[in-house]
Amino acid sequence: MEPRIDVDRLQSRLQELARIGDTGDGGCARLALSDEDRDGRDLVVTWMRDLGLDVTIDGIGNVVATRPGREDGPPVMCGSHIDTVATGGVYDGNLGVLAGLEVLETLAAAGITPRRAMAVAFFTDEEGARFAPDMLGSLVYAGGMSVEEAYDLVGIDGTRLGEELARIGYMGTTPCPGLAPHAYVELHIEQGPVLERHGDVIGAVTGVQGISWQEIELGGQLNHAGTTPMTFRHDAGFAAAAIAVAARQLATDVGGDQVATVGKLDLRPDLVNVVAGRATLTVDLRHTDDASLAAAEHRMAETVRQIADGEGVSVSRRQLARFAPVAFDPRVVDLVEKTAREHGQPVRRLPSGAGHDAQMLARLCPAGMIFVPSRGGISHNPAEYSAPEHLDAGANVLLHVMAQLAEAEL
Ligand code: GLV
Ligand code: MN
Ligand code: MN
Repeated sequence: MEPRIDVDRLQSRLQELARIGDTGDGGCARLALSDEDRDGRDLVVTWMRDLGLDVTIDGIGNVVATRPGREDGPPVMCGSHIDTVATGGVYDGNLGVLAGLEVLETLAAAGITPRRAMAVAFFTDEEGARFAPDMLGSLVYAGGMSVEEAYDLVGIDGTRLGEELARIGYMGTTPCPGLAPHAYVELHIEQGPVLERHGDVIGAVTGVQGISWQEIELGGQLNHAGTTPMTFRHDAGFAAAAIAVAARQLATDVGGDQVATVGKLDLRPDLVNVVAGRATLTVDLRHTDDASLAAAEHRMAETVRQIADGEGVSVSRRQLARFAPVAFDPRVVDLVEKTAREHGQPVRRLPSGAGHDAQMLARLCPAGMIFVPSRGGISHNPAEYSAPEHLDAGANVLLHVMAQLAEAEL
């Protein structure tokens, strides 16, 4: 009989992990390198060690748990992240890590030792919500940023990443960049509506769209809301609001795959009767095509300049993240699609709207992803939900994709 993962065990681990940082509304908050992140890490590392896996922690806090194969050599790796945004759900990231544990546990219980080693990893600070950029741990793993540069990043709370990593006890000794796996496959919830809308159960992910994050700081003149005539104002709050409207307008005008979000806006002093003297906002632009993303960045920069000039406010801009679109290895995409079909699961090829660690691992080895449906396309929200039968289907496809990658050539 073919081995199958135990979906009840997977669900109970997901729920146990979600109790750490429980926000009381069905969600959880484990911002990268917070106390909650540390407690979540401790729990998952305990599970890894209980399974007898060889656990390593590298200089940026990425954790890799390996089960040896019949032969020496790089492992077939899966994984994801266990940090969350402040309004995180149960499944984002956690599914890929805990399903990976399931794969290793299921094969061990069935007495199967594949030719190649297998590993499950969780990467530090995938969300980038506290320390930008996103996918930071996997970026460092893949050699895209040095650990020293990463340690110097400053979080939204003014903390330094290196200090927070050391404080929670996860500044490990395994060197970065990490070793290239034989191949990397990541199971993740879709976080969008496409699979559900089409009644499909498995997504064979073709790639990840390009991401551009900018922080814009506007300096105006703090003044009295009642006495300052409209023509006298240098209102940083107004300029920030105009930029948010312009970002939406840009996405609407460009259409197609263009998305634009102003998700963070701070006004100073943030008071009812004071014209804001300072505003800080973020602009998240994404597109599947790099030239289109660059054009959107250019247009946004022009618009910001015009709005700032019109209001007489100063502008400074900081790039928080910039990643080109990534195409996954067609052999891995084909294998995911074929394996899903063989297991009777309706499957669809689709690109990812969210960033993922797999896009960084794709710099090192053939990489791909498996998506399962998200109810209502909702994620980064406590209401995030994926049905048990979909978790079961996704984790079993992960098992069989990894098993094939661990035996055969691509
Ligand atoms: C991070 O994972 C993102 O897509 O924002
Ligand atoms: Mn994720
Ligand atoms: Mn996320």
